[in-house]
Amino acid sequence: MAVAATVATIGEYVGQEVTLKGWIHTKREKGKIAFIVLRDGTGFIQVVLEQDRISPNEWEELREASLESSVIVRGLVKAEPRAPGGYEIQGLFFKAFHVTKDWPLGRKDHGVDFLMDNRHLWIRSRRQSAILRIRHTIETAMIEFLNKNGFYRFDAPIITAAACEGTTTLFEVDYHGDKAYLSQSGQLYAEAGALALGKVYTFGPAFRAEKSKTRRHLLEFWMIEPEAAWFEYEDNIQFQEQFVSYIVNAVLERNADDLKILDRPLEPLMRVKPPFPRITYTEAVELLGKNGFNVHWGDDLGAPEETFLSNYFDKPVFLTHFPAKIKAFYMQPDPENPEVVLAADLLAPEGYGEIIGGSQRIHDYELLRQKIREFGLKEEDYQWYLDLRRYGSVPHSGFGIGLERTVAWICKLEHIREAVPFPRMLHKLTP
Ligand code: 4AD
Ligand code: MG
Repeated sequence: MAVAATVATIGEYVGQEVTLKGWIHTKREKGKIAFIVLRDGTGFIQVVLEQDRISPNEWEELREASLESSVIVRGLVKAEPRAPGGYEIQGLFFKAFHVTKDWPLGRKDHGVDFLMDNRHLWIRSRRQSAILRIRHTIETAMIEFLNKNGFYRFDAPIITAAACEGTTTLFEVDYHGDKAYLSQSGQLYAEAGALALGKVYTFGPAFRAEKSKTRRHLLEFWMIEPEAAWFEYEDNIQFQEQFVSYIVNAVLERNADDLKILDRPLEPLMRVKPPFPRITYTEAVELLGKNGFNVHWGDDLGAPEETFLSNYFDKPVFLTHFPAKIKAFYMQPDPENPEVVLAADLLAPEGYGEIIGGSQRIHDYELLRQKIREFGLKEEDYQWYLDLRRYGSVPHSGFGIGLERTVAWICKLEHIREAVPFPRMLHKLTP
């Protein structure tokens, strides 16, 4: 009997007969020979079927089966240096399980709106499936790294009572008559976790009611948020360097074929090794000014400024010490200059911009209360959060890395919408 194999592991079966189950990605007929590129989710492989080697029934089914028909083939595995992937199947049996008629995505020149409306089918394409496999590696590597470093996974609630990242992007939920919100970030809960377990991370969806369309924003995205007690600004930065380098390296090691499908230049990824350059917000404003940007100290940096900085360095760069006013209420002021906070964003290179936001958190009870008031938040909403500064407070820090932003950068995508199976964007809710 032929072994059930997958394309990803086909190299283990050279000279043997295997059964593959998958879908027809492309088909070409030349007289008495048909060439199928079969995809099975793990990869793509060419199957050569000759009329004389299979039954007349099978040949007939093969001729009828068009793109994206689901099929079962049996055949001999051959090493074939000229074939993409290096192997080929010499077919001995063919069966169409379900014949697809009129595959809607058959043409090469579909516009992006059409593809987005057919996202449920588009994800089968060579490029989209490569991106999703890389996404899997990135998620897995993030979790691996944190687990190896003694962090406990700590799941935060999705339905929350108060804002973490500003009140302008809250999605409201009716909580049996009470007002609630979809979580913008698990951080406040992760801080409670860090004081219980030492080092934790949350990993879940985050929701932001973004009101503009950009290449970098989703309304729903996935975020990993590590948080650690007795962890200060500098510890946090060095940990992020290790973390991001580990992720990039994992993709280079595990997804070489997928990176090739995407035509992703590898050299910029191979440079991602600690230490990363750092630039303070104040230095950045100066540098931007010298390069024709009209920004003043205290302004929030927009996408064009971020893109410039991100292109200026050939590695990820930490942008640090922002004015307190343009950042979140919970960030620890710099003892040397309380106008700025001990925070750092990590900007990915090649123009991608921010992928991480992180900071040391305020651990002083009175200072945190004062900041909550200054930021126009309601103190009563943050009583449990203030408790963390009432009972055994410690210096602690953490960060949040956006999964889709990271995928977009590592895959070198034009737009974040391809970095998630089903993107949620302004006015886009289906599929
Ligand atoms: O910088 P942000 O808002 O930071 C936080 O949420 C902190 N609570 C994190 C922490 O310290 N625990 O978001 C963190 C990251 C960003 O750097 C970005 O990668 C991603 O989340 N992100 C988005 N990704 C896609 N679409 C959006 N609308 C995003 N908003 C933030
Ligand atoms: Mg941010």
